[in-house]
Amino acid sequence: MEMSEDQHPFLKACRRQSSPYTPIWLMRQAGRYLKEYRALRRKFSFLEMCKNPELAAAVTLLPIEKLNVDAAIIFADILLPLEPMGVEFEFTKGEGPVFRHPIREMKQIEGLRIIEPEEDLTFLMKAIHFVRRELEGKIPLIGFSGAPFTLASYLIEGGHSKNYILTKGLMYQDRLAWDTLMEKISEVVIRYLNAQVQSGVQALQLFDSWVGCLNPSDYEEYVFPYSKKVMDGVADKVPIIHFATSSSTLLEYMKRAGGDVIGLDWRVDLKEAWARVGYDVAIQGNLDPVILLGPIDLIEKEVKRILNSAEGRPGHIFNLGHGILPNTPVDHVVALVEAVHKYSSKSPS
Ligand code: CP3
Repeated sequence: MEMSEDQHPFLKACRRQSSPYTPIWLMRQAGRYLKEYRALRRKFSFLEMCKNPELAAAVTLLPIEKLNVDAAIIFADILLPLEPMGVEFEFTKGEGPVFRHPIREMKQIEGLRIIEPEEDLTFLMKAIHFVRRELEGKIPLIGFSGAPFTLASYLIEGGHSKNYILTKGLMYQDRLAWDTLMEKISEVVIRYLNAQVQSGVQALQLFDSWVGCLNPSDYEEYVFPYSKKVMDGVADKVPIIHFATSSSTLLEYMKRAGGDVIGLDWRVDLKEAWARVGYDVAIQGNLDPVILLGPIDLIEKEVKRILNSAEGRPGHIFNLGHGILPNTPVDHVVALVEAVHKYSSKSPS
């Protein structure tokens, strides 16, 4: 059934309007916890799947009917725009992304290319078109990007990191190189997000997954100007969710950098966090992904706790505090979505 775009509970919540129930979607809802996804992965690599628009569209849609979530998120990755910038990487088994030539010097930074998303990432724009056509307006589609700090951390570390020593090292030791890198990445992220909006996504999420390794004053000095630049550079046609993990000390700063919705991880109390950032933004979160391993009565208990901490205030989008874990049972995820819809429902059932 086609629904007028503003009437979707997810988009209403992004605008802090009340809706019949609290909308829910899940970070990494299209991924390895689904057996259909694992079956496809036996035939194709992760990057092959991202770069094939028909496959990427099909994977985006895998969880939609199965889970009854209120938004889809395009199947892609925050690292995709780095390849056309001129940086090679691969996903190795068990280790995640690995970059052969990490970016650590000014000379390399100067060589990074500013991308043209429509030409360089045509596959993603096509996948967005396909998903919008298949969804027929039933639920909105979310696009996304990594935030400048998080993308810089992959480029500099050459993969995932525990303490971000090389990233912070460059930041503290070579201000010009840091600013040049962050400036370039910000321009790429702005183009990448705007191209997704042009192609049809109806909301955006900016993932600053690893920025929680900084103290507030360094966030303000080295990251804030670039995250703000990205937020200001995105055409304000669609709502933006601003998400980070381990961000409890940074929430007020992230809010100031921008976003219609602040995404919380599970470490913070939702009620306190919302009071701190202010009720002029919506809030997303924040179930601990490990709770989904069970049992179901604990999942329901946590759902009620989190819904209670939102106090029925318009503008709460239910989500996990980070992505679904690969060993999560699908029936537990179904139970989560049902519980959120049931316990937040405003109409008598
Ligand atoms: O949420 C969704 O379902 C949409 C798709 C999506 C993926 N990655 C697919 C993916 C999204 C939104 C992302 C974002 C992403 N990618 C982030 C930010 C979110 C977060 O987790 O903080 C980051 C840091 C990345 C980079 C990345 N991609 C890493 C570190 C890894 C390896 C770790 C892992 O989980 O395997 C990936 C791979 C990846 N991205 C997979 C998926 C489904 C698994 C690939 C596989 O099939 O092996």
